[in-house]
Amino acid sequence: MLFFPDPTSRAVGLDISEHVFRLVEIRRGPFYRRKLQLYRYSEERVEDGVVVAGEFKKPEIVTERLKSLMKKAYKRRTSRGVVVSLPETRTFIKVISVKRPEKTEDVPAAILAEAELHIPTPINELYVDWQHAEDPEKVPVGKSMDVTIAAAPKQIVDSYSSALEAAGLVPVAFEIEAQAIVRSVVPLKDGEGKTIGIVDFGASRSSFVVYDRGTIQFTVSIPLSGDVVTRRIAETLSVEMPEAERTKRQCGVDAHKCGTRLWSIMEPFLSEMAERIIDAVNFYRDHFPGGRPLDEIVLCGGGANMARMDELLSELTKTPVRRADPWVNIDPGHSPLPPEIILSSTTAVGLALRQLMPETDARKTL
Ligand SMILES: Nc1ncnc2c1ncn2[C@@H]1O[C@H](COP(=O)(O)OP(=O)(O)OP(=O)(O)O)[C@@H](O)[C@H]1O
Ligand SMILES: [Mg+2]
Repeated sequence: MLFFPDPTSRAVGLDISEHVFRLVEIRRGPFYRRKLQLYRYSEERVEDGVVVAGEFKKPEIVTERLKSLMKKAYKRRTSRGVVVSLPETRTFIKVISVKRPEKTEDVPAAILAEAELHIPTPINELYVDWQHAEDPEKVPVGKSMDVTIAAAPKQIVDSYSSALEAAGLVPVAFEIEAQAIVRSVVPLKDGEGKTIGIVDFGASRSSFVVYDRGTIQFTVSIPLSGDVVTRRIAETLSVEMPEAERTKRQCGVDAHKCGTRLWSIMEPFLSEMAERIIDAVNFYRDHFPGGRPLDEIVLCGGGANMARMDELLSELTKTPVRRADPWVNIDPGHSPLPPEIILSSTTAVGLALRQLMPETDARKTL
């Protein structure tokens, strides 16, 4: 219809982090129908203690911040459908192997029984979803089939739903963060054949995703974050956090810029990060059927802005490392994103893309 926006031509992603809510709107250009463009970006800061380890500790403040985010983005109160991220540390995604039962109708029960062995939380407290790598009808009885399972605590998803609805938002889908990140940083065209490790280096947490054979194989948390590095700088140099933050941004992990005292923080930090990555890659190679070494490592999240981080991690992991290219699946258009925000916005971009990618995209799981 001419005067009403085509619902398949625009989508909104909402990334809920501990200290900032980010909104991204992507639209299809009117003339080049296949061209997806970043159309809108807005963010709202959230004070300490409101969202803690992915949980809404003060849901009424979450709702207020969401309302104010929408007002900032749209200059008025508005109700929108949004795709929302679930906290990485509270969710679970992995490829598991399930024996094809005799009857097709028993496939879901077989998947849930196997999933229970992999997830450390009772299954009745979780929403569990899955996607088959191949049609179970075509798998011979008794043979193993690969299934990607994803799970999130019901209590988290329900509390997110309530806070969003109270702010006038309609959650059209919830997604595990790693899924959104993969959609935004793995090229649609030539990413499928590659084994890629993705580091999301955030303010309060970091994670590592192993993507292979067109799907997420597993994710692990890395107990290092931008805030941890800043705190170490503040303690070692005896300065306040804002000054430590400035120093971190100025020097990155560059030994020449840092001076020896700062390098004494950055060097162990880098080695720790590399060690975690190497452990995860070895785990993948040794414990997954068909597990293999990585072709490359992609860095995203604001922490990945650190100067020389790509080069040095590459030396330590002996794997090519690059920063994520946020325009790999969309057109920058007249990007509303300030450059320093680009690597922080990969999750929000991937969430919005979920609504606009082709139905056949295997990564649009769950
Ligand atoms: N130029 C820079 N150099 C070094 N660190 C930076 C730079 N820019 C941003 N950061 C760091 O990136 C981190 C923020 O990353 P990001 O925006 O991805 O986090 P977040 O998504 O808000 O939080 P989280 O994912 O942990 O919930 C902060 O620790 C910040 O200090
Ligand atoms: Mg983040």
